[in-house]
Parts: sequence; structure tokens; C-alpha cells
Amino acid sequence: MIYFDCAATSFQKPTTVTAAMEHALYTMTSPGRGGYESAVQAAETVYACREEAAQLFGLQDPSRVVFTFNATHALNIAIKSLVPHGGSVVISGYEHNAVTRPLCKLKAKIYTAHSPLFHPEESLFSFDAQIRPEICAVICNLVSNVFGFIQPIEEIAAICKNRNIPLIIDASQGAGVIPLNMDQLGASFIAAPGHKGLYGPQGTGILLCGEDIMPESILEGGTGSISLQQSMPEFLPDRLEAGTPNIIGIAGLLEGIRYVHQKGLLKIYKKERSLAAIAAAGLREFPTVDVFSSPELQDQTGVLSFRVKGRDCEEIASILGDLGFAVRAGLHCAPLAHFSGGTLESGTVRLSFSDFNTEEEVKEFLDAMCRVLMG
Ligand code: ALA
Repeated sequence: MIYFDCAATSFQKPTTVTAAMEHALYTMTSPGRGGYESAVQAAETVYACREEAAQLFGLQDPSRVVFTFNATHALNIAIKSLVPHGGSVVISGYEHNAVTRPLCKLKAKIYTAHSPLFHPEESLFSFDAQIRPEICAVICNLVSNVFGFIQPIEEIAAICKNRNIPLIIDASQGAGVIPLNMDQLGASFIAAPGHKGLYGPQGTGILLCGEDIMPESILEGGTGSISLQQSMPEFLPDRLEAGTPNIIGIAGLLEGIRYVHQKGLLKIYKKERSLAAIAAAGLREFPTVDVFSSPELQDQTGVLSFRVKGRDCEEIASILGDLGFAVRAGLHCAPLAHFSGGTLESGTVRLSFSDFNTEEEVKEFLDAMCRVLMG
């Protein structure tokens, strides 16, 4: 199988990730629950992963790195910490259901900073116009999961900082590819999955918490600390980490983040984007294919959507699947992004690359597309 669905989950992982997970399985138990060797090893691995993540995302204090099950879990904590029932929020026009569904549950008043695809300056203009004093939080993804559109996050963060409005960044796409410095941005929260661009396994995610933020827990239980107290501890990460953590996953995630550090984000970004550029140029050769990319793939990562006139996206993805290509079609859990991109009616077929994909794979895909379009 040729795997182009890395925006969902990266499939090929560094060998160090799988080795670390196997090692953890045989040597580590519950961190923070005992002074015996297997518990201490687990605690040291968890702390090492916090430190590695803090360094990658520019946090001074590793205790502000909280482990979650995935980015959705992290976003739920962030949103429910900042947005009261009926509160007002500003979001980008490219948010995922992981943002819009919690907001819907909270009956939040949602103001959308609309912009056309690949127009960061218009996005910034819209955010600037919508961010007013009554806004409880601004929520923006770093990169659209459907189109790979990179938001002007530094400029949006600067507006939030100036107006003293908390910012939540959904880095589900872009973590491990686009640099983010949490302390410089002054964001209140950054949520990221462990299993996409950070090359950890599924079931891992992180929530980075800003200074002076005391988030609300959405899960209560044992933390291995101040056990007599019946409310959750008032310090991080314990406040948000009830129950035994996914130590096997965290051991893998540690190696995934180390891989990203060693390889360098810019190198990974350039590689993924160049694969998307080859795919975009090849797809444009087919007269019936609409390709959603900016010229030179400016303001875009290695995530590329397309559709075929008169053909169903799910059908195209299914034929590609039969030919050995893993891609994702439909609305990608992001109807708002499809609305903004003008593809709500049709959906798109999405290709999304990781550092492990190759030009040869993209060429094979383009050959396969000839057969799909003739069929
Ligand atoms: N949000 C993930 C995706 O875009 C799962 O596929």
C-alpha cells in the first residue's frame, strides 16, 4: 500500500518509535505511583517526553505539557476552560468538528473569521475585525486539515495579545512541520496530536498550557499526588492527568518528537510540500480535475485536496484504494472548511504526505489516476 493519509495518522514511523514502545511494554509500569524501578523508569520517560515537547514548542516549563488521548481531547479541555455556556468566540473559517462540536455543545456564539483559500492576509483582516472585548476566546488552526492552508498564526496571536483575548491554537496539522513558539506567541493553549506529524502512535496527544492559566479538568481521578484532597490538584500537569497514562504511547511519542527535532521542521516541511507540488502539477494535467492549491504552494503544507468533475469523491478514493493507494475522501470532519473552500457539496479527495513518502510514490499515484479517470 502507498499511504497518503498522514493528515489522519502518519503510518510509517521511525524505527526508534516502535523499538521504544516495545521496550516500554516490557520494562515500565505506572509513573508516579511507586519508587520501584519499573515505575521510576516510566516516570522518567514521561518527564523526558514533556521536556522534548516543551523544547519543540518553545515552553520554558515542561510541567505545562499535558498528555491527552488525542488533539480532540486536548481541544475539549482548552475550550471548556475558556468558553462558558453561551460565550462568544471567534474561529477561523477552516475549523474542524473537534472545535465546532464542543462549541455547539456550549451553545457558544460563534463569529467566523472568513477568508478565501490561501489568502492569509484576508484571514488576518477578518480576525482583526471580529476580535472584540466581549470575545472569550479566539480559536484557530495552524493548518487546515482539508486544504493544507497555513493560517497567519503569529499575526493572529499578536492581535490577541494586544487585546488581551485568550488564543487556542489547534496544531493538529502542522505540529512537527511548522515551528511554533508558545511562550513568544503568548497563546493560552496549543493542542496537538501525537500520531500525525510528531510520529507517535494513535492514542497520544498533547495540550500545552500557557503561563498563568489554570485549566478546568474534564476527567477527575487519581494523580499519584495529594491523595487526601478530593478536588483535582491545582498544579499542572496533575490537574489534567487523572488515571494511568498511556506510557507505551508516550515512550513512542518521545522518540517521534526526537526524530522531528533531529530531522528539522524546515526540512520535513520542504519535503512534504515538494511532494504536494509534484502531485498538484500532475493532477492539473487532467482537464477534469480541480486541484486546490496556491501557486507555488504558497501558504500551504503537504496536504492537497482535489475533486473530479462529474465523479463522486468517495468513489475515486475507493478505486484508488483498490489500486493500493490510501487517501481520504469526503468532508474530513470539517464541514466548515469545505464551506469556506467551496467544496461542501462535493467534498474532496485528499492526499497528505509525511517525511516517509517519496517522489516515486507520487509518480505511481499519478499513473494510477490515469487509469481511474479512464475507467
Ligand atoms: N482530522 C483528521 C483528518 O483530517 C482525522 O483526517
